[in-house]
Amino acid sequence: METLSKFTLPGILFALTLVFGFGLSYVGKPYNGLLFNVHKLIALGAVVLAVVRLASIPRPGDSFALIAGLLVIAALCVVALFASGALMSARKLDDAVMLTIHRVAPGVLAICCALALYLLVRKP
Ligand code: HEM
Repeated sequence: METLSKFTLPGILFALTLVFGFGLSYVGKPYNGLLFNVHKLIALGAVVLAVVRLASIPRPGDSFALIAGLLVIAALCVVALFASGALMSARKLDDAVMLTIHRVAPGVLAICCALALYLLVRKP
C-alpha cells in the first residue's frame, strides 16, 4: 500500500497529460501553444517523478526479470511519445503514423506500469 501511494502523484500527472492531450487534439493544428507546453511539461513531470519514486523502492526479490522487462517496454513507450509528439508539432501537415504511435503508446505504457506495480506490491 505504501509503495502504491508513492505513485499517486505520477498517476494524477499521467491522467492530466491525457486530458491536455485530448484537449490539444480537439483544438487541432496549429496547436495552441499553451495547451501544447502544459501537455509536454506535465508529461515530463510525470515521467521524472515516476522514475524518482521507482528508484526509492527496494529491489523486488521475485519476478525481477518480468518487472524489468515491463519497465523497459514502458521506457520505450515514453521515448516514442516524446519523439512522436515533437514530430507532430514540428510538421505542418497531418502525420497519421505519428498520431497512431501517440495514441497507442499511452495504452501500452499504462498497462505495463499497472502490471509492474501489481508485481511490486503483491504479497509473496
Ligand atoms: C507521457 C507522455 C505523453 C502522453 C501519455 C501523451 C498522451 C497524449 C494523448 C492521449 C493525446 C490525444 C491523442 C488523440 O488524439 O487521441 C495526445 C496528443 C498530443 N500530444 Fe501527447 N502525450 C505525451 C507526451 C507528449 C509530448 C512530450 C509531446 C510533445 C513533445 C506531445 C505532443 C502531443 C501533440 C502535438 C498532440 C496532439 C495530436 C493531434 O494532432 O491530435 N505529447 N497526447
